[in-house]
Amino acid sequence: MPQRVLTGITTTGTLHLGNYVGAVRPCIIASREPGVESFFFMADYHALIKCDDPERIERSRLQIAATWLAAGLDTERAVFYRQSDIPEIPELTWLLTCVTSKGQMNRAHAYKASVDANLAAGEDADANISMGLYSYPILMAADILMFNAHRVPVGKDQVQHIEMARDVAQRFNHLFGRGHEFFVLPEAQVDAEMELLPGLDGRKMSKSYDNVIPLFDGGATALREAIARIVTDSRLPGEPKETEGSALVTIHDAFATPAQRVAFRDELRAGLGWGEAKQRLFDLIDTEIGPMRSRYEALMAHPERIEQTLQEGAAKARAVAAPLLAQLREAVGLRRFQPLKAVASETPKSRSALPVFKQYRESDGRFYFKLNAADGRTLLQSQGFSGGREAGEWVKRLKTEGESALPHAPVALADGATAAEAAEALAMLRAAESS
Ligand code: TRP
Repeated sequence: MPQRVLTGITTTGTLHLGNYVGAVRPCIIASREPGVESFFFMADYHALIKCDDPERIERSRLQIAATWLAAGLDTERAVFYRQSDIPEIPELTWLLTCVTSKGQMNRAHAYKASVDANLAAGEDADANISMGLYSYPILMAADILMFNAHRVPVGKDQVQHIEMARDVAQRFNHLFGRGHEFFVLPEAQVDAEMELLPGLDGRKMSKSYDNVIPLFDGGATALREAIARIVTDSRLPGEPKETEGSALVTIHDAFATPAQRVAFRDELRAGLGWGEAKQRLFDLIDTEIGPMRSRYEALMAHPERIEQTLQEGAAKARAVAAPLLAQLREAVGLRRFQPLKAVASETPKSRSALPVFKQYRESDGRFYFKLNAADGRTLLQSQGFSGGREAGEWVKRLKTEGESALPHAPVALADGATAAEAAEALAMLRAAESS
């Protein structure tokens, strides 16, 4: 079985250089490895938790989709989709919600941080906390478990969520699996690359610190301007520079070959000016990013092409999700109503397979009846009666009283039939009569 790798990006903004280096690029490279099946998606249901601006949600998911495609994701190899195109995910979320303990959700970092912030501000503990935020880890567990991902590349801050996904998977397997494991237990994969790139001021690159270098936004000009704002010390050209702990050097490393890294450090120690160093950094980044930017712009000019790609991705994802969800529904008891087995299989068959009484009049003018087995052999033969009514009454009595009426009845065993066969035939008729 190939290794399934899955990750999602929440669609509340545009991606910056740190997201590219930390998530998009390593995921695309990993997706080219043989024996790996990749699932990458826009976590747009997650975006709704943090953002109630529809235009922003719409723009962000388009931009992020275009970014993955422009960066070279091969959608023939990787399954690439929007979370909200997979209705099986919210359905699974509910099944998981019902086996997740509230206490465990109370301990989720994101929720706890919001509670702490509220308390620190003197507010009610749950002020402005939606159920979406509270249940966020369960939706994320559904994202992962729906596709039985083995590995989930994420940043450190997401590791707890993967652990929660393992827990809920185990609980579900245990409760409903009867020895069958519905879910693979996923592992978080925290690569050094996932450690976010430093931003302009040396802290990790993040919108909330306002220190980001844009990826495509604003084109080459914005990239150049941002690089110019990377904080350095005030050493002049010609003075040896300290390369250790320099944000500029770390960002350069993210795009350089090992040889380029060594050469860049040597030049800085030999007095390369910061202005010149920034020019080199721009050139290096733009060599990689520039061609992607053109593809990005071409894609953004044709949202319908991105839509088409994502529809194809959703179809591939649902082909995996739907059969698993069908099994899960079955396992928890959400099943189709079926005709009861006994009624379904026996009614038509037993009609033809029942013994039968036949009444008739012979050429002697008298009335008779006989009991035939299901296979047509005659088991009992009556004497002749002068009236049809009398014959009919005996038939009725044998049908309702069965074997016990036999000794009194004016009947004889037919040739080749046994008393046991006659008794059994009568018992079958009584059973059919009373059902
Ligand atoms: N919560 C993740 C983040 O904010 C995004 C995400 C949603 C995700 N679902 C996922 C990541 C499933 C990995 C797997 O970064």
